[in-house]
Amino acid sequence: MQDIIKEIQRLKKERNAVILAHNYQLPEVQDAADFTGDSLELSRIAASSKAKVVVFCGVHFMAETASILCPDKTVLIPDKTAGCPMANMITATDLLELKKRHPKAVVIGYVNTSAEVKREVDISCTSTNAVDVVLKLKDAEEIIFIPDKYLSDYVSKKTGRRLISWDGYCPTHVKILPEDIIRQIRLHPKAKVMVHPECTGEVISLADAVLSTGKMCKYAKESGAKELIVGTEVGIIHRLKKENPEKKFYPASELAVCPNMKKITLEKVLWSLQDLKEVVKVPDEIRKKALRGIEKMLAF
Ligand code: 13P
Ligand code: SF4
Repeated sequence: MQDIIKEIQRLKKERNAVILAHNYQLPEVQDAADFTGDSLELSRIAASSKAKVVVFCGVHFMAETASILCPDKTVLIPDKTAGCPMANMITATDLLELKKRHPKAVVIGYVNTSAEVKREVDISCTSTNAVDVVLKLKDAEEIIFIPDKYLSDYVSKKTGRRLISWDGYCPTHVKILPEDIIRQIRLHPKAKVMVHPECTGEVISLADAVLSTGKMCKYAKESGAKELIVGTEVGIIHRLKKENPEKKFYPASELAVCPNMKKITLEKVLWSLQDLKEVVKVPDEIRKKALRGIEKMLAF
């Protein structure tokens, strides 16, 4: 493994590349990356980086977002089959039909969508800023929020706004059940419970904090809690432990594994840098329109 890491570091310099890894990536991939973060943090880093090549260790929509933001950079994904099933639950045609039924609605698109869908949304959001984006739209008569129905329900509750939602969900987060949280609380009565807003409403109602993965890392550092129950994809536990060696972290459910996030291995990162593959390039016509919604979000 040391040889692979050395070669990755060497090639990274030669190619003028930056390696970004989502918080759910395998431990060794997170450790080889220049930055680890959530969807919003990684988009911001991709946009501001001076590197010529961005190796995106995450799922396809994240690499597409980087391509939309950085048309002059070469954006690579080490495994092009690493998709997000939730993002695939809505197509641009689906959204156009929904918009036809609600012609006055402002459309908020979760960043977990394809570039074609992003082209049709008015403003993008991530789990970090979804509540703030809805609060900003106080003059909107109607709001469509796609594709995650659980995130939409959570945001609706927090803001008091009725949202027109889509029947999408994350197959990994729905594996976390309320009884998992209750069991962990019984086992660790002093622990704080933090969960991702892609969890079901019942799970969310049992949590002390509902947070994006980036905010979970911050909360773990700053909250003062010595033990935490973590209701999201288990890959984040690596970073939490690394940054807080004195604290204890308990995954809410060992079943919360995103198989697509685990497709990226160190070998594939190396091959990606060697061959400059697989390139993710959003065509200009889609990119320009999709960029408007992302820029509006980033301006917040
Ligand atoms: P974050 O933006 O919180 O990292 O979430 C991305 C994601 O895909 C969660 O399943
Ligand atoms: Fe998509 Fe869920 Fe995997 Fe996140 S955890 S990338 S929402 S399938």
